[in-house]
Amino acid sequence: MKKIIIMISGRGSNMLAIAGNVKSGILKGVCEIQAVFSNKADAAGLQIATEMGIRTHCISSKGKKIKKYNSLVLEWLKQKNPDMIVLAGYMKVLPSELIQEFPRRIVNIHPADTTKHQGLYGYEWAWENKLPETKITVHYVDEGLDTGEIIEQRAVDLSGCNSLEEVEQRGLKAEHEFYSECLRKILTAKHRKTQRDMFLKKVKN
Ligand code: GAR
Repeated sequence: MKKIIIMISGRGSNMLAIAGNVKSGILKGVCEIQAVFSNKADAAGLQIATEMGIRTHCISSKGKKIKKYNSLVLEWLKQKNPDMIVLAGYMKVLPSELIQEFPRRIVNIHPADTTKHQGLYGYEWAWENKLPETKITVHYVDEGLDTGEIIEQRAVDLSGCNSLEEVEQRGLKAEHEFYSECLRKILTAKHRKTQRDMFLKKVKN
């Protein structure tokens, strides 16, 4: 069984959806949640995770020099050694040492097409630009802001939306299903890895 750590900074609705699927949905038997991590002690998601009986851990970034904060997080993650680090509304850029420590073991969900919009306010961007759809993106995390290799995208129809709230509601509903589906694929992708390894072996010889 694979071990995952979910990193959040706030509401934690994606974390909740994943936790639900780990408990009794498409991630049951695929992975277990080692812990939910937050850089904010008052993140609503931490409380929700605790109520669900999930271990939580907080290293507050508030008032800490970024170098200090980053090294504490890296130290903790190294000690936990998860198979996958799942960012779900974690609003801090990961430092290169952390990315290098966990190659292709960190994923993120973004509310828009990461080739068109990066950073915060993905739904605001879609709403303000009257986009007919948004493309939810799940991607590996690299050192840039939402620039890592795209794993999969899912288009969400935004036609007929009358408010930003409606855009966000439709988008989040899709995120909650899509992220777990992607995680299931990545965490069970034995044959893909084997094929890739065989190919690399062949190239080497
Ligand atoms: C989600 O919409 C997620 O896609 C977005 O933050 C929200 C977190 O909500 N992430 C980004 O914008 C990353 N650049 P949640 O805390 O309820 O899961």
